[in-house]
Amino acid sequence: MKVVTTIAEAQNHAKKGRRVLVPTMGALHKAHRELIRGARAKGGKDGEVVVSIFVNPLQFEPGSDYERYPRPEKEDEEFCRKSDVDLLFRPNAAEMYADGRSVFVDENSLSNVLEGKSRPGHFRGVCTVVAKLFNILKPDAAVFGEKDFQQLAIIRRMVRDLNYKIDIVAVPTVREADGLAYSSRNAYLNAEERKQAAVLRKALLAAKDSEKKTVNEIVGFTQKIIGAAPLARIDYVELVDAETLQPIEFVQPNSLLALAVYFGKTRLIDNILLE
Ligand code: PAF
Repeated sequence: MKVVTTIAEAQNHAKKGRRVLVPTMGALHKAHRELIRGARAKGGKDGEVVVSIFVNPLQFEPGSDYERYPRPEKEDEEFCRKSDVDLLFRPNAAEMYADGRSVFVDENSLSNVLEGKSRPGHFRGVCTVVAKLFNILKPDAAVFGEKDFQQLAIIRRMVRDLNYKIDIVAVPTVREADGLAYSSRNAYLNAEERKQAAVLRKALLAAKDSEKKTVNEIVGFTQKIIGAAPLARIDYVELVDAETLQPIEFVQPNSLLALAVYFGKTRLIDNILLE
C-alpha cells in the first residue's frame, strides 16, 4: 500500500485499472471494511482501491466535535494495509484548503431537510470536499454507506448535475450485534448511553413492522419507543420520500423513516426504508 499526503503525489500516482475511491474521515471500523470490500468488488481483480482519510473542517458546524473527532493515524494506516488497500491519501487541512478559498459546492434542494436543517453548512462542506477528492483522485467509482442516506442522495445528485463520470456504489449499513449502526462517533458514548442507543434500531424496526400509515402515527410511534430510553433526546424523526427527501403524509412504496437522536453529547443518526 502506498501512502501519500500531498495533492501532487496523489495526482502523480499512476492509475492501475478501474480506480474505486472510499472517502472517509478515518477512525476506521467494521463498516469501513465493508465499504472497502464493496470497492474491491466494484474494481474487479485488476482494479485499484483508494481510501482517503481527511477530517474535513468544512462539514463541522461551529461548536461541534471537529477538535475532538478521533484521529488514530497509526491504527487507520494499519487497518488499510490489512484491508488490502492500494493507495491511502491522507492530506491535512492546509493541503486541502488554500487560505482565502472562495469556491464551494452547494446542493440546494436535498440539503435543506433532515440533517441539513439541524446542521447548516454541513452538506456544503461534504459536497466541496467530495468534489475536490473526485477532482484530485479521478476515480471511476466511489463507495458510500447507506447509514448516511441523505449524504448518498446528495452525492448522487452532485455527480449527475456536475457530470462526473463516476459510479456511486451504496453499501448497506453495518450494525453491531444489538442493531446499533457502526459509527466513529459511537466511541464517544459511555457504557449506559451505548446500551440505550440500541433503542434506535429497535424503534425503526418496530415502526416498519407496525404497518402504521400516516406520518403522525408512524413518527409518534417511533418517538414513543425512543422516549422510553431515559438518556435519549430526539433531534428529529421524519418520514420522507426516499428519492426527493421531502416530507410525506402517508407511507408510500419508497418512504424513508430517518432520525437523529442525542445520547449525552453524542448525536447518532439512522434510517430505514419502509416499502
Ligand atoms: O461520510 C463521511 O465520512 C464524510 O462525510 C465524507 C464522505 C468522507 C466527506 O468528508
